[in-house]
Amino acid sequence: MDRKLDELLFALMQNMTIAVSGERLAEELGVSHSTIVRWVDKLRDAGAEIRGELFTGYRLLRLPDVLLPQLIRPRLHTRELGKTIFHFFSVDSTNAFASRLWTHGRKVPHGSVIIAETQTAGRGRLGRSWHSEPETGLYFSLVLRPKVPPQYAPLFTLGAAVALHHAIERETGLDVDIKWPNDLLVLGKKVCGILAEMQAEFDRVNSLIIGIGVNVNHSSLPAELSDRAISLRMASGKVQSRIECLVAFLEEFETLLSQFEHGGPEAIIDPWSRYSSFASGRRLQVNDGFRMIEGVTRGLNLSGAIRIETSNGVIEEVYSGDVVAWN
Ligand code: BTN
Repeated sequence: MDRKLDELLFALMQNMTIAVSGERLAEELGVSHSTIVRWVDKLRDAGAEIRGELFTGYRLLRLPDVLLPQLIRPRLHTRELGKTIFHFFSVDSTNAFASRLWTHGRKVPHGSVIIAETQTAGRGRLGRSWHSEPETGLYFSLVLRPKVPPQYAPLFTLGAAVALHHAIERETGLDVDIKWPNDLLVLGKKVCGILAEMQAEFDRVNSLIIGIGVNVNHSSLPAELSDRAISLRMASGKVQSRIECLVAFLEEFETLLSQFEHGGPEAIIDPWSRYSSFASGRRLQVNDGFRMIEGVTRGLNLSGAIRIETSNGVIEEVYSGDVVAWN
């Protein structure tokens, strides 16, 4: 259904200065005229301003900022990432959709991307929700099928953070910090979060779902988030292109993944440590789900766990958790 809406919107975009008849659209898309009428209403719900003219047909007056696969593909210069794209105007959660594909035996290719304009049940880490305002943020999941044992999985999340760091700096000119384990901060506030979920067997990863939410063009954020979150637009004072951010990320991540394949974990650990102010010498308190660990960061180990030196000189290696305090 959403693929058909994409096609209709794209057809209207190609003819933005003129009105296109409902019959012609119906013929081009291989559906009935009454279906076109229904779909036009759905596109209006998704933010498109479409005028229906009695004798001439439909004219697109305002193009919503929509991440149409038809607009992404020509801009994307990758070999694998983003070659298959699922685009939704609205979905519960792109991560949930990706795992449903897996559960229903639909093995999508490595590098498939699921994008939503908005999510009705966007998921954050540790059971939190993710604010998914339409037309403003980037909400997508990348499905990877790396041929590695499960203990390497955290490296892919750290790698995604590095690629996002590079993509956002490149696109916006902002200074981006990586907060362990994988939040991206601008001006000390969160602009992006990553939720990685894995389907694995004892000795191999079947599929890794890397869900990414970026606050791109929000002009404000809900009161409960505004003291710790910010958008790229709020930080830079400029509207940013969601498509260019997405494309830049996929290109950066593909390069990094190939460096990892050839060079091993250091290809991810090194840039992560270079671009994260949390990597070394940072005093923090982490809740790893079982206990509170307090100490000073001493870099990452080769599986991507952060090494924390506690007050009695012991080094704890922590794979994931919630940083509850830092300075
Ligand atoms: C975090 O808590 O920091 C992680 C947030 C991850 C949000 C993204 S939005 C796209 C994808 N689908 C989801 O339901 N969650 C992730």
